[in-house]
Amino acid sequence: MVHFKTGFSGFDLVRCPDLIQRILVKENDRYGEGKWTLRGRYVMKDCLITREGGSHRERRSQMRSPFGRQAVEASSGFMVDRAIRFCDGWRDGATVDLFPDMGRLALEIACESLFEIDLHGRSARLNEALLELLIAIPRLPLPHPRVISARRHARRMAAEFTRGDLVRGLREAGLSPEAIRDEIIALMIASIDTTPKTLCWLFSMIGMHPDVESAVLAEFDEVLGDRDPTVEDIRHLERFDRVLDETLRLFPPVHFIDRRPLEDVELNGTRVKAGSYMLLCPLYTQRDDRYFEDPHRFDDSRFTPAEAKKRPVFSFFPFGAGAHACIGRRLATVEMKLIAATVLRRWRIRPEAELVADPSPQRMAFPCRLERRS
Ligand code: HEM
Repeated sequence: MVHFKTGFSGFDLVRCPDLIQRILVKENDRYGEGKWTLRGRYVMKDCLITREGGSHRERRSQMRSPFGRQAVEASSGFMVDRAIRFCDGWRDGATVDLFPDMGRLALEIACESLFEIDLHGRSARLNEALLELLIAIPRLPLPHPRVISARRHARRMAAEFTRGDLVRGLREAGLSPEAIRDEIIALMIASIDTTPKTLCWLFSMIGMHPDVESAVLAEFDEVLGDRDPTVEDIRHLERFDRVLDETLRLFPPVHFIDRRPLEDVELNGTRVKAGSYMLLCPLYTQRDDRYFEDPHRFDDSRFTPAEAKKRPVFSFFPFGAGAHACIGRRLATVEMKLIAATVLRRWRIRPEAELVADPSPQRMAFPCRLERRS
């Protein structure tokens, strides 16, 4: 564990996989949400992400079913259709910033899967508003006009979301329309911050590594022939799975998970006081050379079953683990695989700028040159 200070706050950075497992899974009742997540209540209010303990468990059980296998797989046809519609709008030889496009695509898919809402070309403005709210989370909670206007827009849109199992379940559990609206906004924020960044990094990594691109395309050909992918197909994309995992290792969209001990705890001989702030950092641990040789290099062979077995399980945890593990993991994974297989078979994507293997700020830019495959 390493202690460090930023401004007036001190943090303990937990690096060791065994401790990460203890905190997230084995002893998770001894820890509550950390400073940044609690501050997120200014933007995300009272929702699954910002809840703790019993009230968190209760809300999670009310929200589970729309994220389950059946519900996600039922949306898979829509995911592919939407991906085709998006990339059919691209122009051969053009340079586009992929980040807003992937943000809109992920938002449209999340809204259709979870709320049975077709955003009908309204996703660009909503994506912008949600990005504004996302960026406001770590800032001081001041009434900035852009945040106020973004919140107003997101609330107006979320108030239209009255269909789907998720909203029905929350209504039956007795939540007020305002509480349901806050939960919807938090889920939309989670979806525009995560899958879009991962897809952008994935396309960039594949574009920068022609040998990886050839292998992935050969696998698509073998499994799909000349069809678009189905949810059944993606179970057979082993090489592609490894490329996605390696992307999530180098560029986990959630850089850190924060917690605070609810009582004094001892971790590997260090005493940590109740209420202090702890950071568990996928970005840091997943680039630690004790677990990943030459850790900044893109190399998907790290994820063959034999190689993966050599490492501690919690050296790779992009979706977190335990009671707060990502509820959207299945949705995100199915969506990313279907989108990537659909897009990459049609388009060659080449990052325009030299990308550096470093974390980037919330609002990213991924200028890429697009070439239609013949
Ligand atoms: C590449 C995609 C994604 C990654 C890597 C990711 C990562 C994570 C991580 C690390 C956590 C744990 C946070 C913690 O322990 O405090 C988390 C929680 C969460 N994620 Fe995701 N996420 C992704 C996609 C999504 C999507 C698409 C949604 C919703 C549509 C979503 C909704 C949530 C929610 C609601 C939580 C809070 C769960 C709880 O506290 O019980 N995520 N995610």
